[in-house]
Amino acid sequence: MKFHEKRVIVTGGVGGVGQALVKLFARAGEIVLFTDRSEEDCAEFSRTLVHKGLETSYIAGDLRKKINCETIITTAVEQLGGIDILLNNAGIIPHGTILETTDDMWFSALDVNLNAAFFLCRAAIPHMQAIGGGAIVNTSSTWGIYPGPGHAAYCTSKAALAALTKSLGRDYAPDNIRVNAVCPNEIDTPLLRNDFVRRGIDPDNAIEKLGKTVPLGHVAKPREIANVIAFLASDESRYICGETVEVTGAKPVYG
Ligand SMILES: NC(=O)c1ccc[n+]([C@@H]2O[C@H](COP(=O)([O-])OP(=O)(O)OC[C@H]3O[C@@H](n4cnc5c(N)ncnc54)[C@H](O)[C@@H]3O)[C@@H](O)[C@H]2O)c1
Repeated sequence: MKFHEKRVIVTGGVGGVGQALVKLFARAGEIVLFTDRSEEDCAEFSRTLVHKGLETSYIAGDLRKKINCETIITTAVEQLGGIDILLNNAGIIPHGTILETTDDMWFSALDVNLNAAFFLCRAAIPHMQAIGGGAIVNTSSTWGIYPGPGHAAYCTSKAALAALTKSLGRDYAPDNIRVNAVCPNEIDTPLLRNDFVRRGIDPDNAIEKLGKTVPLGHVAKPREIANVIAFLASDESRYICGETVEVTGAKPVYG
């Protein structure tokens, strides 16, 4: 995939898929600004990138706050001179049926998985219009398309993100701004592993076992999802717009 010094924002940049995205775009020579919750984690990841010869910038902040979302966009415009690609990758997965979902779990899921993408897209789109186009890739989930059991807040937030993606894709296609979403099944990242740990299950064994349920033979590696996101952000996918792309290793999802 060819990019030409694109200015790229990656949210959740310190997480499993986020790190893969930051490295992929930085190695391709793009100008990357990543963001995540903790200043310390961002700084540490930035140092590891510098050791690999990769230069990026970062801004830490909690995406549950609208002001932080808007600051990410204004900072990117100030520091990078504009925005070509916005990757709304940050996400959380509160576990529970509706009766197990507290107000805080519900609002956090909607704030991180949906509202942050809304604030970031709304702030970024005028800057993309000003330069004649851009690409936005949101990370939804197969469970946003086929809601699975026991995750009311997560499934709702990811379904709404998929709907937002289609809506923006249609509204801004005439401005040459392509908005798409990737909908992965399980990915081998801290999000998945921490859930096994929470349930007292060894994550290595669990991931191996889970891999046997996937026709392609393994749980997705972060890079395998990052590659699809990069494709959707690249000119190679220039006729794909307003789509939700399922990435499942041929594993049937719940539904
Ligand atoms: N791992 C999976 O099995 C899986 C499956 C389908 C979809 N997804 C989605 O993929 C995306 C990437 O997830 P991942 O698997 O790499 O998980 P991850 O937990 O490794 O990374 C998510 C990142 O988002 C950041 N984040 C969370 N809340 C935040 C907040 N309030 N403010 C700022 N940053 C915040 C975290 O700090 C973390 O670095 C998420 O949107 C997730 O929902 C993951």
